[in-house]
Amino acid sequence: MVTSSSFILCSLLLCLVSSQVLATSSSQPKALVIPVTKDSSTLQYTTQIKQRTPLVPIKLTIDVGGIFQWVDCESGYVSSSYRPVSCDSQICMASGSGACVTECYSPPRPGCNNNACSHLPNNPFSNSSGGGEMAYDTAVIQSTDGKTGSKAVAVPRVVFTCGSAWMLEGLSAGALGIAGLGRSEVSLPVQFASAFNIPKKFAICLSSSSSSNGVIFFGDSPYEFLPNVEVSKSLMYTPLILNPGSTAGSYFEGNPSTDYFINLTSIKINGKAVPLNPTFLNITDGNGGTKISTVNPYTVMETSIFEAFTKVFRQEAKSLTEVSSVKPFKYCFSTNNTPYTRVGPAVPIIDLVMHSSSVYWRIFGANSMVQVKEDVICLGFVDGGSNPRTSIVIGGYQLEDNLVQIDLEKARLGFCSSLLFKQTTCSNFNFTSSA
Ligand SMILES: *[C@@H]1O[C@H](CO)[C@@H](O)[C@H](O)[C@H]1NC(C)=O
Ligand SMILES: *[C@@H]1O[C@H](CO)[C@@H](O)[C@H](O)[C@H]1NC(C)=O
Ligand SMILES: *[C@@H]1O[C@H](CO)[C@@H](O)[C@H](O)[C@H]1NC(C)=O
Ligand SMILES: *[C@@H]1O[C@H](CO)[C@@H](O)[C@H](O)[C@H]1NC(C)=O
Repeated sequence: MVTSSSFILCSLLLCLVSSQVLATSSSQPKALVIPVTKDSSTLQYTTQIKQRTPLVPIKLTIDVGGIFQWVDCESGYVSSSYRPVSCDSQICMASGSGACVTECYSPPRPGCNNNACSHLPNNPFSNSSGGGEMAYDTAVIQSTDGKTGSKAVAVPRVVFTCGSAWMLEGLSAGALGIAGLGRSEVSLPVQFASAFNIPKKFAICLSSSSSSNGVIFFGDSPYEFLPNVEVSKSLMYTPLILNPGSTAGSYFEGNPSTDYFINLTSIKINGKAVPLNPTFLNITDGNGGTKISTVNPYTVMETSIFEAFTKVFRQEAKSLTEVSSVKPFKYCFSTNNTPYTRVGPAVPIIDLVMHSSSVYWRIFGANSMVQVKEDVICLGFVDGGSNPRTSIVIGGYQLEDNLVQIDLEKARLGFCSSLLFKQTTCSNFNFTSSA
């Protein structure tokens, strides 16, 4: 048995070292969470993040394909931690900016500093865009172990862009800008990842109810919902496709799209293939392809796809009684002889088939049918016209109560079918912190 004093010293040192490691690992979060609220009047998905010094809670509308966060800097932006991003900085170049503020003639203030990197904030709900300077400021976000909420942590330098007050038109009441989670070097997931050295990954789980919050996780799984349902093991994956042509309302020449495109190769309804012109599923000169969106409340399809899709759906839904349409939907049905299941009304099952026939996103009634009156449900897909920029835009309603993971490092999108099958929902994350 060794009982020398040097051994005791060593174990004391070890003990000191390991307690230090523990202290660091407990202060460095592995993942972060923000709540997501569905606004019943605009159908936008919003969140609240504390920002600035002193901290102010800021409501933002979520744009899953948005290049960055932007906020209105004109209406009372006060913060001692605000710092403009300079034009010659690495982050300015990485953002794809093609401009620099050189002619700000008022005294320096948030949104008006010379030699500040300039970018193009854009509001896809009103189709408005402007120019604004990029800046850093502090944010405070809740951390998590993936099971429950944990303590709030400060992110000292979060890059965002200044927008103008007039650009807020069309956003949910009280929203001061847009939280962009897109495929860029300056979106929130990338910045949170570099602040805490966590994976460049996030998962979005939108609640179908405007009275209970969904959640976005930044960083690694688990993704646990009450009662003890861990979702990360049930994900299927498909590669993200880079669209070389921007799909934003405004952008600098040559910048790629920051939307998340996936390789949808066919659509099946009750197993029957919908005849589609494959040209629309390809991306050519930035046009075509399939993306996910939290801007469009319902999935939008190019006209020929919409017509082929609804034709097969109605053939397969012969046992249902069709009733007159209710805008914005074209095909509606009576609920009178429609049985209900755990995953919503029993209607034909829609499969969005990805890069391989064994990888498909299955859509049940809860995500395909929208209740518009007490006894009327409508097929929740809309006609996008004959010449849309993107052929298929998978909208918010189809994402609700599904968990969608974006892994920027592996360039893949993970999805699971309805959480209702697992007897949980996106509003069942336990935000309550034990700390
Ligand atoms: C914005 O543009 C989209 C398509 O680019 C269109 O569907 C939408 O109606 C426009 N919104 C407004 C408010 O003009
Ligand atoms: C789709 O794109 C691929 C590669 O760019 C090309 O080989 C193929 O012919 C295209 N298909 C259609 C139907 O346009
Ligand atoms: C999409 O998937 C098909 C089938 O696996 C494949 O042939 C095609 O190259 C893929 N397209 C892209 C852009 O990855
Ligand atoms: C949520 O988590 C907290 C602790 O983190 C726990 O005390 C509470 O019981 C949990 N809520 C439910 C409904 O399980």
